[in-house]
Amino acid sequence: MQKFLTLICLVALLTACSKENQTNRVDSRIDSLINVMTLEEKVGQLSLYTSDWDVTGPTMRQGYKEDIKKGRVGAIFNAFTAKYTRELQEMAVKETRLHIPLIFGYDVIHGHRTIFPIPLGAAASWDMEAIEKSDRIAAEEASAEGLHWAFSPMLDIARDPRWGRIAEGAGEDTYLGSRIAEARVRGLQGKGVGELNSVMACVKHFAAYGAAQAGRDYHTVDMSDRMFREVYLPPYAAAIKAGAATVMSSFNEFDGVPASGSKYLMTDLLRGELKFNGFVVSDYTSIMEMIPHGVVADTASAAALALEAGVDMDMQAGFYEEALGKLVKKGTINEQLINTSVRRILKKKFELGLFDDPYRYSDVEREKNTVMKLEFLEAARDVARKSIVLLKNGQLPRQEKLLLPLSKEVKQLAVIGPLADARKEMIGSWSAAGDWKKSVTLLEGIKAAVSPKTNVLFARGCNISDDSTTYFAEAVRVADKADVVVLALGEGAWMTGEAASRASLALPGVQQKLVEEIAKTGKPIVVVLMNGRPLTINWIAGHIPAILETWFLGTQAGNAIADVLFGDFNPSGKLPVTFPRSVGQIPIFYNMKNTGRPMDRNNKYTSKYLDEENEPLYPFGFGLSYTTFEYGAIKLLKEHITTQDELTVLCKVTNTGTRAGEEVVQLYVRDLIGSVTRPVKELKKFQKITLQPGESREVSFTLSIQDLAFYRSNMSFGTEPGDFHVFIGGNSRDTKAAKFVLD
Ligand code: NOJ
Repeated sequence: MQKFLTLICLVALLTACSKENQTNRVDSRIDSLINVMTLEEKVGQLSLYTSDWDVTGPTMRQGYKEDIKKGRVGAIFNAFTAKYTRELQEMAVKETRLHIPLIFGYDVIHGHRTIFPIPLGAAASWDMEAIEKSDRIAAEEASAEGLHWAFSPMLDIARDPRWGRIAEGAGEDTYLGSRIAEARVRGLQGKGVGELNSVMACVKHFAAYGAAQAGRDYHTVDMSDRMFREVYLPPYAAAIKAGAATVMSSFNEFDGVPASGSKYLMTDLLRGELKFNGFVVSDYTSIMEMIPHGVVADTASAAALALEAGVDMDMQAGFYEEALGKLVKKGTINEQLINTSVRRILKKKFELGLFDDPYRYSDVEREKNTVMKLEFLEAARDVARKSIVLLKNGQLPRQEKLLLPLSKEVKQLAVIGPLADARKEMIGSWSAAGDWKKSVTLLEGIKAAVSPKTNVLFARGCNISDDSTTYFAEAVRVADKADVVVLALGEGAWMTGEAASRASLALPGVQQKLVEEIAKTGKPIVVVLMNGRPLTINWIAGHIPAILETWFLGTQAGNAIADVLFGDFNPSGKLPVTFPRSVGQIPIFYNMKNTGRPMDRNNKYTSKYLDEENEPLYPFGFGLSYTTFEYGAIKLLKEHITTQDELTVLCKVTNTGTRAGEEVVQLYVRDLIGSVTRPVKELKKFQKITLQPGESREVSFTLSIQDLAFYRSNMSFGTEPGDFHVFIGGNSRDTKAAKFVLD
């Protein structure tokens, strides 16, 4: 035994030594390289330009190929495929003096070729394995197409559904968002940067971009340090702790300074507190945008402010290229500062293995054997159906049975709506190199699922966003013939994502009128929603018996929805974001503060609206199943704990229905009295469990002292003694409660 332990220690020591040696070797290779680089070559490494393949913002610069050949660029984005990246890499390696390879980056947000659900949708799965797997597959495909770097994950907490980019993140909750952040970094980076089927992750948008005022994209962010640290910062911090290789600065200002010029964010917080040691890239032209923000007047001042703040790479503005050399020559900027940024970038190029083989990711054979493999498509279908949320499942008049799942033997099934056969929309916004032509529509998914005897009828009903009612009559005729109507409504993919804020959360165009017309036929209707944000669907919730929230589910959307519609898959998704009743309630989220005058309907002078309820339409964490779950009373192993303890919390969950089902058991905490006010509920743990009909499981959670900590009145992070409530349930509203005391 003794010998065995000695051997293990020896191996560990040797591994540590060899890692250290390797790091030292890389560091000295980087030093030698920097020693021979001209100032222009150094600045080149700090510039990132788009190719002309895809444009994800205003085009400021042309001629990226010339830039590559002249060594004026260190990385390229929006260029992929093994062939094209090799072609561009050859320019960098063969035609520049120092043969420094390029990094290729791209917005691989929810899949690369095989497209998975939009991130907000995937968050509804509350399934970390599934999310990690989706990014693992995305990384395999992207790296096989010559990419080294995904501009993902987007970790901006978003509590304003008017903001189009809510679609790109994990929703409103810090805890769920943080777990997803880790899963996505693990998925993208696999065993680590340099592994051939991995890509570098890029944590974005640092920081607090999701809090854009009024939900208007690129707008001002202004919040307290407490709010920032408690709500917005943890997901970024979790991703950095999980090893994310790079970070992207955000467009917004933060405490009066645009993020790309904020030394506090980019250096003090990121590198100082969070111990981040990769490189920081600006968001698209955000260094240039500091001029209209009004903190600098010209190119040179913008470049200096960003570099001094700690932004290593300039995406697309060209300001570093234009100004940094001159600033060093004038003595305004110390060349050492440039060396530091160059070192960080070169380090990643070494870690990626590009100095050993610049073409190692550009392998046509691997690309051919990797993209859109059958197993990837199966995984996409699985993640997609896990992301579907059953919002409502009601009985029809005079019938006992619930409307869903539908029988595959239905004789006449009408599939109606502008999203029923909308192939292009299925992959959502930010769908990377995904080919919408390969996606499965709802109509196709349904046709493939039903029995040969079922007659599937189709009518578009209306377009997504215009005001023409021309096709209404035909849709009503089709509905009239049907036994059941599946009505696909929602947004166009283009209405979500960047630069896609909306002031209204209603169904666009004449879709509301369409559903009202179809409802008049008296036929049983299932509304299938496709959208990138919560919508205000009060009328539908009040009048339509069954509603499925399906977001934009990706390449396999239609098959995944059909799996749920016909009961081949029992829905288990839970909302990662609150669905308001009206825009006027925004921001609305479950973990609000109590206020000094909590709502009392009978007391005018309490916190409420005259013309709207306080409660949302659907709360955070909500989602039904084809079975039912019953929660027993909460059991605590102790009712008093000390700061040295952990607390075990138990709750028996029983499947009281007739089908096997998955349930996301959610645990929330409330600290009743603090030196600063605490939210009425905070998600602290969750577990996804499967129960057979009639089966019970005692679900056990362990709360640590860290789980009860917060930023106290003096901003120190820790706990305070006192009473706590713990809640467990299948959503944030309907919970069992128990009380414990922290002594
Ligand atoms: C701007 C977006 O804000 C960012 O998320 C994206 O990665 C870049 N454009 C590059 O496309």
